[in-house]
Parts: sequence; C-alpha cells; structure tokens
Amino acid sequence: MCGIVGYIGYEQAAPILLQGLEKLEYRGYDSAGVCLFNGKELQVEKAKGKLEVLKNLTNNGEDLSGTVGIGHTRWATHGEPSDVNAHPHLSESGRFAVVHNGIIENYNQLKEYLISKGITFRSKTDTEVIAQLIEYYYKDNLIDTIIKVLSKLNGSYAIGVISQENPDEIIAVRKESPLIVGLGEHENYIASDVPAILAKTRKIYRLENNEIAILTRENVRIINTDKEEVKKEVQTVNWDVSAAEKGGYEHFMFKEIMEQPKAIHDTITPRIKDGRVVLDEISITDEQLKNFNKIEIIACGSAYHVGVVAKYVFEKILRKPVEVDLASEFRYRDPIVDDKTLAVVISQSGETADTREAMKEAQRHGAHVISIVNVVGSSIASESDDVIYTWAGPEIAVATTKAYSTQLAVIYLMAIYFGDKLGNISEEDYKMYVSELEQLPDKITKILEHKENIQYLASKHFNSRDVFFIGRNIDYALSLEGSLKLKEISYIHSEAYAAGELKHGTISLIENGTLVIALATHEKLIEKIVSNIEEVQARGADVVCLACENHQEIKNVSQNTIFIPQACDMVLPSLAVIPLQLFAYYVASLKGCDIDKPRNLAKSVTVE
Ligand code: AGP
Repeated sequence: MCGIVGYIGYEQAAPILLQGLEKLEYRGYDSAGVCLFNGKELQVEKAKGKLEVLKNLTNNGEDLSGTVGIGHTRWATHGEPSDVNAHPHLSESGRFAVVHNGIIENYNQLKEYLISKGITFRSKTDTEVIAQLIEYYYKDNLIDTIIKVLSKLNGSYAIGVISQENPDEIIAVRKESPLIVGLGEHENYIASDVPAILAKTRKIYRLENNEIAILTRENVRIINTDKEEVKKEVQTVNWDVSAAEKGGYEHFMFKEIMEQPKAIHDTITPRIKDGRVVLDEISITDEQLKNFNKIEIIACGSAYHVGVVAKYVFEKILRKPVEVDLASEFRYRDPIVDDKTLAVVISQSGETADTREAMKEAQRHGAHVISIVNVVGSSIASESDDVIYTWAGPEIAVATTKAYSTQLAVIYLMAIYFGDKLGNISEEDYKMYVSELEQLPDKITKILEHKENIQYLASKHFNSRDVFFIGRNIDYALSLEGSLKLKEISYIHSEAYAAGELKHGTISLIENGTLVIALATHEKLIEKIVSNIEEVQARGADVVCLACENHQEIKNVSQNTIFIPQACDMVLPSLAVIPLQLFAYYVASLKGCDIDKPRNLAKSVTVE
C-alpha cells in the first residue's frame, strides 16, 4: 500500500505535496519522492527512508520550483526500498513521470517487451513500466496514450501522471487501489486518501474503477476508458483530521482487521496462475525438497503462533516432521539442524532481533532458510536464502492482525506447492485447496459483516479477570493467538490450553463464572471438545464457543456460540481468528485501553 498526492494550482507545489505525504505515511514509509514541472522540465527528488529524509533533502520542498507536481510515499512490493526504486518514476527521456499504488501483475512481460525495443530501465519496480509504456506509445495525445497503456496492464493501480508535453494538467487513473480528487479554488488535488488533502479542501470526487481524472488549475473532468464524460457527485468530507489518518476508523487495529480480506487477496492472487500455486520466490530444487528430513519453524509472538498452525498443516500434507521454536529458545538449545533442515522464519517486521539471530544460527548449522516477511527489504528478508513476502501493506497497530492472516495464507500456499512437488496431493485435493484459498477473502468479509455479535459478547465479558482459550489440534494452535490478542491489548490475564490437557492440572483454576472460549472448528474432534466444554461447565465456567455453521448442534452445549463459514480444516484458522481479534478489540475498547499502542509493547522488538 503506498501513498499518492498531486497538486496543480498557482502556489509552490513541493511544500504542499510534502505536507500531503506526511498524512499518508501510515500507508508506507520506506521511501518517498516528488516530481515537479519547473517551467522547463520534470524535476524528480526522491530518497530511501522516511519522509523526513526527503524533507531535509529539499528544505521542506522550498528548494523545488513549480506549481504542478506529484508525490509518493512507498510501501515496497517489487524492488527493495532504495533511492532508485522510490517513486516518482520517469520515462527514459524524462518527459513523463508516474506515481503508482498497487501491483502490476504482468510487469515482467511488459518490461521484457520494452527492453527488446531498446528501452533501458533504471529500477526494479513494476511502476516504471507504466512510465516507459506511456513514452513508448505517446504520439501527440496523452489521454489516448494512457488509455492504450491501461489496456496493457493487469493488476491493481492508482496512478498519477504529469508530463512535459502537457505541463498544465495532472492525469489520474483508478483500478482497485483507492484514489480521490480534491476540488479547490483555482487549484485541484489527487490523493490516495482523504488525510492528504483535508487541510486544503473537504470537497472530493472518489474515483471508481477505470475512471480517469483530468485536472487543470480551473477544472476537473472525469472520463471513462471509452473517453465518455462521467458525471460525479461532489462529496463533502466531515472527518476531523486525526480520524482521517485511520481511514475513518477509530483505531489502526480495527482498520487493519477490516483490511484482511484485501490483504489475503493481494497475498494469494498473484501466486495462483491458471489454478496452480506458483512460488517463484523459492529457489530450492525438487531434489533438495525431497531430501529435507525436517522442517524447523522459528518466530516470536503471533508469528510463532502461525508456526504452530503450520506444524499441523505441513505435517498433514508434507508428511515431514516439523518442529516449531520460539526464536529466543531456539538460539540457545544447541538445535539439531543441518543441511537437511528446511528452516521457515516468520516475521512481520523482518527486524525482530531474536528471530534474526535465530535465523543466523540455523544458517550456521547449514539449514536452508525461507522467510515469510511483510516489510520488503528488511533484515530478515535480505539475509534469508528465499523470502516470500506477505502483501498486507504497512501494519501500524502493535497487535498484529492482517500480517498474521497473510502469514497463514503463505503457509497454505507453501503446503500446496510443496505437497504437490512431493506427490502428496491428489489433483482433486489440489483443486479443493486452491478453491478454499480463493474463497477466504469473501468468507472473512462475511464474518466481518456480523461483527456486532462479537461486540455484544465482549460487552458481557469485558470485566473478566481470567480467560481460558481451549482447543484441540489446529484449534489449539489458534487458541494461542486468541489468548495473546486479548492479553496484549486489554491487559486481561488469559491462557491458551490444549483442551485435552486441562484435566491434568489447570482445570483446578476453573470456578464459577470463569470465561472459557472453546474453539470447536476441527471437524473430527467435535465430540472430544464438547466433552471438554462439559467438563469446564460442570465446574461453573461461562463458555463461549466458536464453531463452523454446519454444526448448529453446538448451540445445545453452549448458548453463546459464534459460527463461522464452513471450510476445509487447513484454512479454518484464517476464519476462526477473525472473531478472536474482534473480541479482543471490543473488550479492550470497552476497557478504554490504548489499543494501537498497548503499554510496555513495541511494534517491532529489535532488542533481545
Ligand atoms: C503480536 O500481536 C505482537 N505484536 C508480537 O507478538 C509480534 O507478533 C512479535 O513481536 C513478532 O514480531 P515480528 O512478526 O515483527 O517478528
């Protein structure tokens, strides 16, 4: 997810662009840049690092002349964070400049074609292809050229274009990635999100897919790709500025919970081509895969919980032994690891010190390391042998949600990809698994549409003192995450427990009114978990149950049952985690906790 701004008016553009980008840093912050038409040519200033670097480089934009320009703050997806990969991107001659938010899925083919025509590229990004295509097809009409270029692009995009040919206009296009037009007096704006322009205007157009906006200082036209005029309603934004940075949500955590369908879609879709899982990021050969005698998963916190789910998924499908270690423990237990070990290292930030050092320990023992990381170009991503990025976009809230979910999605992709290579998946099951993955975003959306049921449950239990999350098999793995979410943002003590293990001691803690959240989604173990529910109920527990909607009989055991859509066992954690995230969020909200910045915690633990 990146941030785009554009300005055309009579004032100096650069300071306005930088102020707008400041409000979009939550969308991406590994590099930033601006491009102005300075009266003679297009001038680009861009830099790796936070926006502060660019502001210092340009004296807060005061050093850059010009009254029309575009700006961008980046969340890298293709090409590590660097000066040259930062946006805006220029065409070869420098006559066209582009900023882009989204993913051009066919950029490799387009780039190869343009290179074959003698065009040289500067960056590793997908975005530069857009600028080069505009120049390649440009004759004398920029709109016609852009429409032709759009017909070549597959994927999602919000694009801003300025040119030396038409220096008195900005062209903006939207397909999937959000883009708005801000309407001023003798000036107009484009932006990825409202916060960027709220200080300047509250009158906006929200572009729909395949709409093209043509901005001049005095006018804004909207057309479609058939060049037909589109009538748009002017919308007036009445948000306050701080709320707007969260896209209108009260907390980043809630915004990120709601972004999960899109985050999973963006992580999965580019890796399923013609019904097959394609993981080009992985360099191991089929021979190496067959020779691995163990999979070692290493992570911390929620990423470790993904690893516990992965153990169940990998052992079931790959039939190879899987060990899951807390990174801080792995490092010091003299692990049995060698060149027959495939290590999977999971980290949202890619900077967690324990995880990074544990990865190095595994590599010292000869393991091949595949990392699953959300921040492109981060240390773990750069130092692992292979990296599979989750495309969740920047995750601001300390309590992870969408990164956890997209890490699970990558685990499923790996299980299908490796399981197929090992000959462990029938064609029928392969199709079923891929279909289940592709249905995940819609099923999660369905769960989110009923979030008020969770809110009601939270209102009944937000004063709990001790909460137990119990489950069996993959539900146990998920109970770890449900418990951590509740603890870290509501400060309520909670424990995750294997349901079958309770009777071996901890059940002594269950007393009248103790809240027990029982995860009962695993098809084959329903009877078992029901007896565990009855065990704790017999001791006075208040049970909230989480089950698949095809098991309505669970309501006979626990009146407070949350149902989720049915799915194959492998992907159930991705559905069941949503109510658990919402429960923790609503409980913390009712307790008035600082949800996005819980006490004692940091988003990335870069110390040991
Ligand atoms: C989860 O909500 C926490 N923020 C924390 O447990 C986190 O998952 C852990 O610190 C690992 O961080 P990483 O994924 O960036 O390595």
